[in-house]
Amino acid sequence: MRLKRTVTCGQLTGENVNQEVILNGWIAKNRDHGGVIFLDLRDRYGKTQVTFNPDIDADMAARAKRLGMEDVIAIKGTVQARPEGNVNSNMPTGGIEVIVSDLEVLNEAQPLPFLVSDRESGSEDLRLEYRYLELRTEELQRFMALRSKTYQSARSRLNEEGFMEFETPVLMKSTPEGARDYLVPSRIHKGRFYALPQSPQTYKQLLMISGYDKYFQIVKCFRDEDLRADRQPEFTQIDIEMSFVDQDDVLSLATRLTRGMFKDILDYDLPETFPTMEYKDAMETYGSDKPDIRFEMPLVEFAQYAEKTDFGVFKDNLAAGGRVKALVLKNAADKYSRKIVDGLTEWLRTYYGLKGLAFVKLDQSAFSAGISKFFSPELQSEIIGDLKLEHNDMLFFVSDNEAKTLQALGALRLELAKRENLIQPGVVKPLFVLDFPLLDWDEDSKRYIAMHHPFTSPNPEDAALMDTDPGNVRARAYDLVINGYEVAGGSIRIHTREMQSRMFELIGMDEEEAQARFGFLLKAFKFGAPPHGGIAFGFDRLIMILAGTENIRDVIAFPKTTSASSLMDEAPSNVDEQQLRELHIKLVE
Ligand code: AMO
Ligand code: AMP
Repeated sequence: MRLKRTVTCGQLTGENVNQEVILNGWIAKNRDHGGVIFLDLRDRYGKTQVTFNPDIDADMAARAKRLGMEDVIAIKGTVQARPEGNVNSNMPTGGIEVIVSDLEVLNEAQPLPFLVSDRESGSEDLRLEYRYLELRTEELQRFMALRSKTYQSARSRLNEEGFMEFETPVLMKSTPEGARDYLVPSRIHKGRFYALPQSPQTYKQLLMISGYDKYFQIVKCFRDEDLRADRQPEFTQIDIEMSFVDQDDVLSLATRLTRGMFKDILDYDLPETFPTMEYKDAMETYGSDKPDIRFEMPLVEFAQYAEKTDFGVFKDNLAAGGRVKALVLKNAADKYSRKIVDGLTEWLRTYYGLKGLAFVKLDQSAFSAGISKFFSPELQSEIIGDLKLEHNDMLFFVSDNEAKTLQALGALRLELAKRENLIQPGVVKPLFVLDFPLLDWDEDSKRYIAMHHPFTSPNPEDAALMDTDPGNVRARAYDLVINGYEVAGGSIRIHTREMQSRMFELIGMDEEEAQARFGFLLKAFKFGAPPHGGIAFGFDRLIMILAGTENIRDVIAFPKTTSASSLMDEAPSNVDEQQLRELHIKLVE
């Protein structure tokens, strides 16, 4: 190219007046004011107005007039202060324009599928198909810059803490960690497969055995699971492992790192220590293991009142070992018409398998509507007094087995908060959830599975329960929750062979299977494994929160859809016969 930029499009101010400059960029706007052509030239640093005056060069102004949106050009010109009245104080470059003396057209663009200046002008599918164009939008450029800054912040903070950065294999042995593996067939070893890591969990533990007591890695993880707004099949973790530590050491490192990143990126001051909550309390009070504590509205125990009602559903569920819990919505009953409650009920039915959603409203100092007729006046007074209910409050009730009751009411809590705008924008509320159960009962296979992963250490205080009541053993496992998102998770690990074998036994894995799957790790444990533990941050989720978006795809340059495809390059795609033959693979119908 003839004209190489000397400045970017976001750089020039009144200080540069009279300088000769060269700008390169994309055309964001083209206007003709009585023959004078004004272009906005854009790059990722900003926009600069460049002006073609036909009195200076009529031929060049005519060429400029024909240029279209997103054409790539180079111009040379002189910086000039904009005339009074044309100053745009909203833009850093709004006080100047560049009077063009030379123009080079570097490349012309075809008509665009949507407007780069307006992200909403195309459907998400269209934007994903032309992701490279969407990445030109102001919003995504901001998110990508924020992401880039966060990598640097994480690296420098961990470096300051004395952590070493590693890379571990992407082609590894299949050691399922909870989700389904993505498998890669081996050409050389017929019938064998590599797996893409669901996380570098086993490698980081091996590195502890090797003596690298402070490890970190910013790493891609792959999980073939059902996707949601905050889940991608490939995502990034800041993965951390430490030796000779206990839970508090890992939590305080995670706190310092999180505080550091929020400070570096948003200049936001998080508290010096984050509040903690036991898993059990999180479930009981918020109906979630990742409570959003930016607003109150706790789930209220209602069994003691339900017993005294004449409402059969509640009493039957309680008798069958189920639960009744309630939510108090303050001063909003008048907004919740029959139709709106029916909508909520249908939603809970569809997504949480609930049979119904009961309610009462407070009319002055008595229950009205819903299931109010099942409450005696005395019982109403008792409840109104205990729960400090006032006119126009509303009580929602859910009754089912424990898991469904908590989960559904937790979801309703979030939905009501959204509808009632209970969440202050800009607030960040971190929380450590502790004392997760070690095991989870799997109804399908009628056995326990590891709640976190099978290398997670039980809480020594619960050692006795391992034989008598494994379901109630707590793990030394923890999650960092921010604004209702699980941002990080980790645990103190088992580091002795005996405990590891005991754990495999509990999850119904016999010695043979344990050897086949994790033999390499069990062998390594024989050669002096230090006590160790760690944590992994979901990097994309962290960026979502820093960026203030609820869509994980917004913060990933080339994301996949919820059906795990890439609309731009059309992955996954068919491969030819020859490739399959080399891999010893035959497709079945
Ligand atoms: P875990 O499975 O909890 O722990 O993952 C750690 C964090 O990664 C993020 N995350 C995801 N983000 C986007 N899309 C996904 N599909 C996805 N799955 C998980 C979450 C989560 O908190 N090896 C352990 C860590 C350890 O024990 O040190 C692990 O991977 O934010
Ligand atoms: P019914 O007696 O079935 O007409 O239900 C009366 C009210 O109770 C309706 O608002 C139902 O949605 C609600 N309801 C039914 N089953 C449940 C349940 N398991 N938990 C909470 N509310 C329920």
